[in-house]
Amino acid sequence: MTSLLSYLYPITKTIKSEYSGTLEITWYNGKKHLNTKNANYSYGSLQRILKFGLDKIALNKVNSVLLLGLGGGSVIETLRKDFNYAKVITAIDIDPKIIEVAKNEFNLVEDQTLKIICLDALRFVQSNTETFDLIIIDLFIDVTVPDAFLKLNFWSDVLKASSSNGTVLFNASLEKTKSQALNDVIDFLKAHFYTVDIFEKVNGTNTVIIGSGL
Ligand SMILES: C[S@@+](CC[C@H](N)C(=O)[O-])C[C@H]1O[C@@H](n2cnc3c(N)ncnc32)[C@H](O)[C@@H]1O
Repeated sequence: MTSLLSYLYPITKTIKSEYSGTLEITWYNGKKHLNTKNANYSYGSLQRILKFGLDKIALNKVNSVLLLGLGGGSVIETLRKDFNYAKVITAIDIDPKIIEVAKNEFNLVEDQTLKIICLDALRFVQSNTETFDLIIIDLFIDVTVPDAFLKLNFWSDVLKASSSNGTVLFNASLEKTKSQALNDVIDFLKAHFYTVDIFEKVNGTNTVIIGSGL
């Protein structure tokens, strides 16, 4: 019934988060979305943006995924349903409220193929010892990528977590122009990856960067 009604009008539930302010769960066109005051966090345009990136990656060669920024987990739905990706995904999010929302509102279930860790992504990559074939970096607080994720020491740790032929998919910015910090990250990636592709205005808004082949 709720999903039928949502074709007529969105129904919104709000939850307070220490990190992202007010989280809004909204029904839109028969599907639940997770939004903050100014940004779509999960499902909706965010999901289309990451799907655009995933479409460009040879997922048949990917045996493990690290997702930095779980949100409501829409990219996990895309991987599982649109790309039939059945292997292990490790997802990190700093916000326990977001993890609760992912589980309770978006039916994410932890099992042998989905590990969810509540931790600052910065600390996770510093202490991590595993390598992953695909690292998806989707770290936002509302409309902003926190500064720490545009610093090269974070990216050095990301490289250490990437397998030798690994791929990085970075949802980099909602800004109209690239900042100097983002240009520095791009130069760093170009110095370490075999190919680096930069896609601007994906879905009309975001800059998405894909680095492949260390
Ligand atoms: C756009 S949402 C992620 C959406 C998600 N990838 C999806 O597919 O639905 C951004 C997420 O980054 C998380 N985040 C922001 N800063 C973080 C940090 N320092 N460490 C870990 N997660 C962080 C936020 O809590 C939020 O859940």
